[in-house]
Amino acid sequence: MPNFKKERTYVMVKPDGVKKGLIGEILHRFEQRDLKIVALEMFHATKEQIDNHYPKDEAWIRRLGQKTLGTYEKYGLDAVKELGTNDDLELGKFVRGWLVEYMTSAPLVRMVVEGVHAVDMVRKICGATLPYLADMGTIRGDYSNDSPVIANMEKRSVMNIMHASETPVEAQHEIEHWFGGREEVIFDYKRYGEE
Ligand code: TYD
Repeated sequence: MPNFKKERTYVMVKPDGVKKGLIGEILHRFEQRDLKIVALEMFHATKEQIDNHYPKDEAWIRRLGQKTLGTYEKYGLDAVKELGTNDDLELGKFVRGWLVEYMTSAPLVRMVVEGVHAVDMVRKICGATLPYLADMGTIRGDYSNDSPVIANMEKRSVMNIMHASETPVEAQHEIEHWFGGREEVIFDYKRYGEE
């Protein structure tokens, strides 16, 4: 049985999070909810690393494109007029490409966060992916306001401060991708009060 007290998730502070000076605030919000930072590092990602971070399968890319189309529909915008296509795969590829540009535009901070239901807890603390929909009290809700309508018109990805794994399986893959072969930088220690 997995040790639910020691579930691990992968978090990355994105360029806008770093440039807004939010690294400390993000760490603070995890630590105040009894989550433990067990690995922490600033680095500059290569395009290849980011390209390998985001899924490459057609279904994921189409889903990204469908989300964009959904937003355009919601606000009565014409994707063909604005972006030259309403094909979900094409749109997904655009967004994926913009993500690679954005994620390599400044240093990032990568970390492994551990604790009870760390994956869900961290996603809850981060808030919804799209900042304009994120609840107040979440990191994105408190510190950002961006939308895919504006971002896509400006031919860039949504700036949403951070990335956090969506499921324990995704977390495992992402920890392996970003820390694989360097287990010595992931630490095991007890916080005060921990048995
Ligand atoms: P998604 O998989 O929906 O978010 P999450 O990683 O929270 O599960 O989207 C992946 C990334 O794509 C996310 O960082 C936001 C970005 N994105 C855009 O930049 N533009 C868009 O139109 C959409 C839908 C997502």
